[in-house]
Amino acid sequence: MGRKGSSKSEKKRTGKRKGKRKSQARRADRHALYEQSVQDPDYDLALAKRLFKKRFGRPPRLLREDFCGTAVFACRWVAGHPDNRAWGIDLDPKPLAWGREHHVKLLSQDQASRLELVQGDVMNATHERVDVTVAYNFSYLVFDSRKTLRAYFRKARSTLRDEGLFLLDLYGGPDSMRLMTETREHDGFDYVWDQDEFDPVSHHAVNHIHFEFPDGSRLNRAFSYRWRLWTLPELRELLEEAGFSQVDVYWEGTDAKTQEGNGVYRKVVRAPADPAWISYIAAAL
Ligand SMILES: C[S@@+](CC[C@H](N)C(=O)[O-])C[C@H]1O[C@@H](n2cnc3c(N)ncnc32)[C@H](O)[C@@H]1O
Repeated sequence: MGRKGSSKSEKKRTGKRKGKRKSQARRADRHALYEQSVQDPDYDLALAKRLFKKRFGRPPRLLREDFCGTAVFACRWVAGHPDNRAWGIDLDPKPLAWGREHHVKLLSQDQASRLELVQGDVMNATHERVDVTVAYNFSYLVFDSRKTLRAYFRKARSTLRDEGLFLLDLYGGPDSMRLMTETREHDGFDYVWDQDEFDPVSHHAVNHIHFEFPDGSRLNRAFSYRWRLWTLPELRELLEEAGFSQVDVYWEGTDAKTQEGNGVYRKVVRAPADPAWISYIAAAL
């Protein structure tokens, strides 16, 4: 994907500072930059509500956010309705602490009382069953064998009520198997997605996120991921083997003018051979 606006070299030249002030990269908050670059909790909330309501004819109230990181989605969920409750689970105490400081603190006492953040493994965390469990931003790709991924899908299934949906996303297409970087401009920084390693034999991939700033500084490897890049048919089969009875794929439409994705996801049984795509999967008991 091409970058918009002024060239990087021009930004570096004009943005250079003299003196001892810390670089923009050293002052940056990587969790804030990550959220601005890759997360859209309002979109995710609307999608979960739409898919659940269409299937079960009522709004979902209980959410489990696996691999929640800063738990921005879970926080938005409890703020969305007085009957909404949420659990967020992540192994890493750092994003959880950041989320408590930057999201949970902004909730009212009542909203915060309907949210539980758990530092732990998604395979172990247990609580009352929910309407919707999500595993977003490809986080479940950490499970790199059929055995471990199927066990996670079984666990996700066990978190759901009889009327329940498990939602996950996946990226793919031939571009996902290339070593490449893609830069997107944001307000005050560039986001760089770096596909650093890909092994066609195992489908193991190493990806990094870097951030670059107008003063020429760079937050290198702000986030790194070691994943197995599963394919859609593999995921469908494993979800079915884990006991889900209906597994639907949602594919993004194309904007007629720009030929880019239009942000509208529809259920499909076939899809065009896009070089790079992101899709959602909804699995029901
Ligand atoms: C790609 S980030 C996703 C953050 C957020 N869900 C999002 O949509 O952007 C992956 C997160 O998964 C967490 N994680 C990895 N393995 C985990 C496990 N087994 N149990 C719980 N969290 C895990 C990491 O600590 C990290 O915060």
